[in-house]
Amino acid sequence: MHGFIIWLQNSAIGTWTREAFLPFPIILSIHVLGMALLAGAAFASGLRLSGFGAGIPLAQIRRLRPICIAGLILIVPSGLLLFISYPAKAVTNPLFYVKLIAIGIGIWLTWFATPKAVDDPALQSGPVTGRLKLYGAGLIAIWAFVIIAGRLLAYTYSFNNILW
Ligand code: HEM
Repeated sequence: MHGFIIWLQNSAIGTWTREAFLPFPIILSIHVLGMALLAGAAFASGLRLSGFGAGIPLAQIRRLRPICIAGLILIVPSGLLLFISYPAKAVTNPLFYVKLIAIGIGIWLTWFATPKAVDDPALQSGPVTGRLKLYGAGLIAIWAFVIIAGRLLAYTYSFNNILW
């Protein structure tokens, strides 16, 4: 593992993204734009499930799925490139693993559990139930957590790179 991390950070791509002037800020910006799409769509779904926008049929939440996919298409490759730029910084920070686990939970909630909830015929009309409200709040909370964890990675590491 140690050898792999050293190899990764000294690879041509890791060195380029870390040391050239433009790549890192560009990749980080792509990561944040992807986050805006994915978390934005998830927040919109979560708000509707929590009872906001009662005039919008619940089934319409499905229409946000392509936005989530577009977000993931931007976020995952840029996230991997950010990782390759400073792999030692990431693997030595427990918050990085917490963020990845939270992403897994967030994707599961957004991708599998939300359609199940919105397709339930019992929920298509009538007031939003307490359980659904809680679920919507959970969706918002998990993506808020991922965003905050991502931002805090820059302030919580103990190793930066290279000499480790
Ligand atoms: C494959 C999934 C992902 C990987 C491997 C990944 C990896 C990373 C890495 C390595 C950083 C740089 C941390 C640093 O500055 O030390 C970062 C920053 C960040 N990530 Fe991710 N990330 C992923 C997905 C996500 C998702 C899904 C979100 C939010 C919805 C997110 C939000 C953020 C934020 C807000 C930052 C900080 C940006 C800034 O410094 O302003 N990431 N990510």
